[in-house]
Amino acid sequence: MPVALVTGASSGLGAHFARTLSSNGFSVVVAARRVDPLNALTAEIKAQGKIAHAVPLDVTDPGSVDAAFASIKQLDLSVGMLVNNAGISDMKPALNISADEWDRVVDTNLKGVFLVAQAAARQMKEAGTGGSIVNVASILGHRVAGSLASYAASKAGIVRLSESLALEWARYGIRVNSLCPGYIETDLNREFFASNAGLALIKRIPQRRLGKQEDLDGALLLLATDAGRYITGSSIVVDGGHLVSSL
Ligand code: NAI
Repeated sequence: MPVALVTGASSGLGAHFARTLSSNGFSVVVAARRVDPLNALTAEIKAQGKIAHAVPLDVTDPGSVDAAFASIKQLDLSVGMLVNNAGISDMKPALNISADEWDRVVDTNLKGVFLVAQAAARQMKEAGTGGSIVNVASILGHRVAGSLASYAASKAGIVRLSESLALEWARYGIRVNSLCPGYIETDLNREFFASNAGLALIKRIPQRRLGKQEDLDGALLLLATDAGRYITGSSIVVDGGHLVSSL
């Protein structure tokens, strides 16, 4: 069974991606800084007769990335699919962003994606099997919104980084693509989207609704599986038309 590693799987989209991949034939390794919520997720997946492991991982720390991949190897597994999902945002006017705040967002969203993709690609190259890497960017990798400069810059960086890695790693049979969700409802943002500001935002989405986590399944599975075997260096937007909203 192919092994998929999902970073930032302790909540939200990451946990959903792990469940989706597991239901579609992947053994999953879920990773995040906090292992407790990961253990609950692996227990849930194992209860369905599927294979799941949890590893601690701070994507910003090269030592932690090395340790996570070493423990995956110790489990006698080799990552064939990676969802680089861990990410943070920090809503703040650009004039007020400190250097440390900038680093926190860019280190997690861009350096973290690079470090984990590099470690996965090394394992895929060594195994000689190739693989698929899906880097979770955002529609803010393609257009901007106010007070999210560090987030938008890091997500645009993910789109271009994915193209660069696709170019370099095609020779090893490794595909690299970015997935750009629009606004997707999760536990963390549900309250905001029920507020007046949130409802006003939803009106600007051409499909007039928020995305559901399941709306990402088609694109994820296309990129993760052999169905997407000729797709590399692409960026797939799943946003109910938000990027093409009227200017
Ligand atoms: P979330 O906050 O629920 O999940 C983020 C996950 O990343 C958490 O599990 C967190 O613990 C983990 N994480 C943060 N820093 C980490 C680090 N240094 N090392 C390891 N794990 C770390 O947020 P959500 O909404 O599930 O977002 C997941 C991804 O999807 C993020 O990259 C986000 O930018 C992206 N995204 C989310 C959208 C949405 O509407 N929910 C829209 C577009 C993109």
